[in-house]
Amino acid sequence: MSRPRTPAGAKPRNAARGGRLSGHPAEIMQRINVSIDLDKRLYAQDIAGSLAHCAMLVARRIISPEDGEAIARGLEKIRAEIEAGKFPFRVEHEDIHLNIETRLGELIGPAAGRLHTARSRNDQVAADFRLWVRDAIDHLDRQVTLLQAALIDQAGAHAATVMPGFTHLQTAQPVTFGHHLLAYVEMLGRDRSRLADCRKRLNECPLGAGALAGTSFPIDREKTAKALAFDNPSANSLDAVSERDFALEFLACCAICGMHLSRFAEEIVLWLSAPFGFIRLSDAYTTGSSMMPQKRNPDAAELVRAKTGRFLGAFASLLTVMKGLPLAYSKDMQEDKVPVFEAADTLELCLAATTGMVGDISVDKAAMRRAAETGYSTATDLADWLTRNLGLPFREAHHVTGALVKRAEELGTTLADLPLKEMQRIEPRITAAAREILTVEKSVASRTSLGGTAPALVAAAAKTARARFLGGKKEAKPK
Ligand code: ARG
Repeated sequence: MSRPRTPAGAKPRNAARGGRLSGHPAEIMQRINVSIDLDKRLYAQDIAGSLAHCAMLVARRIISPEDGEAIARGLEKIRAEIEAGKFPFRVEHEDIHLNIETRLGELIGPAAGRLHTARSRNDQVAADFRLWVRDAIDHLDRQVTLLQAALIDQAGAHAATVMPGFTHLQTAQPVTFGHHLLAYVEMLGRDRSRLADCRKRLNECPLGAGALAGTSFPIDREKTAKALAFDNPSANSLDAVSERDFALEFLACCAICGMHLSRFAEEIVLWLSAPFGFIRLSDAYTTGSSMMPQKRNPDAAELVRAKTGRFLGAFASLLTVMKGLPLAYSKDMQEDKVPVFEAADTLELCLAATTGMVGDISVDKAAMRRAAETGYSTATDLADWLTRNLGLPFREAHHVTGALVKRAEELGTTLADLPLKEMQRIEPRITAAAREILTVEKSVASRTSLGGTAPALVAAAAKTARARFLGGKKEAKPK
């Protein structure tokens, strides 16, 4: 391939060192300064931003249409080179912005130098990074939706599958497995709405802020903002180049969503353990032990549970970078990318693994039901019966039921199997009807208050959730 020659002066200059710095940077200076290995991930956003800026410069007659066209063609070529893995990334050109600018010079000659008119790397990186986070939000939103879809599918199938509900991890009252899963669908719905909020606030275009003060060129900030699908140009040039609260908000969103995934992962670990035995995962989502041949370990769930630490670390790391930084840009801010990339990658992985596990879960209904029957889980139902049928104040009914539980415990029986005679020794007005409501099925069926666990409600809630979160799609199978 014949390359246009670099303009007079032979080797490509480092654009950022310019005429001011004539000596070479120390090797260690370069090592601490360089960010290309990381920020090459911004290439698509950087090219999109440059194309928008270039078109605006042409429209405002700041550069000629010929130069504009050469620049645009060169940028497209660079995009193709990067995507084909043929782009010569070079550490001596620091970051993605200077790598692309330098390459553009090699490809199209001196016209490349006009692209940076009325622009600084400060507004450039601020725009690129916002675009990147915006894309990440859109991608994560789709992924969370897939997880919701998987949960809703299981919830619909298990609207009437009874399991013990816990408080303090002690058996509390029977609930249905579908109801339990739909709780996570709600959490994930809020995670999505948090991401959407973050997206709304970040969607302002910093381009045109220049290094910090704006520019003397007659630019059109509305035009670049619109070309990049930003809602509007940011109002203050100092703020535009120096704020990273959009990234912090994103990290907070990731941390909260990661925490939700971690709670769910912990439940998978519990349910899968032998003493619970509520669910099974296939070989696809479990691992064996190198020593104990009988083991089937939920490693994926454990790792999802553990990765919350990374989100918190990422958030703390960027908040610490930003704390106490004076306006406007400081190089400290180059450190914003590690935590954001790390959090986005980790969340994407956790979401995919969790979605896979949810689809893989098979439920041992008998084991869940057996567990739901232990621990006097229907004691509240009995107290409610005493209140409703004998007119006892609830506190009194609570007391009487406590005595009944104690008696059942002494006789080694469940509440439902406690003989009527024994019951009547404690409260003579109890009738046989009371014993009938004490099964776990009757218990869940009676929880018909709004948002309750009655199977009919859960089946309806699964349907509503499909409409609320999946746009009514019947089945949203992960790809
Ligand atoms: N690589 C830099 C960053 O990510 C780009 C901005 C550099 N600006 C500067 N004035 N040195 O922050």
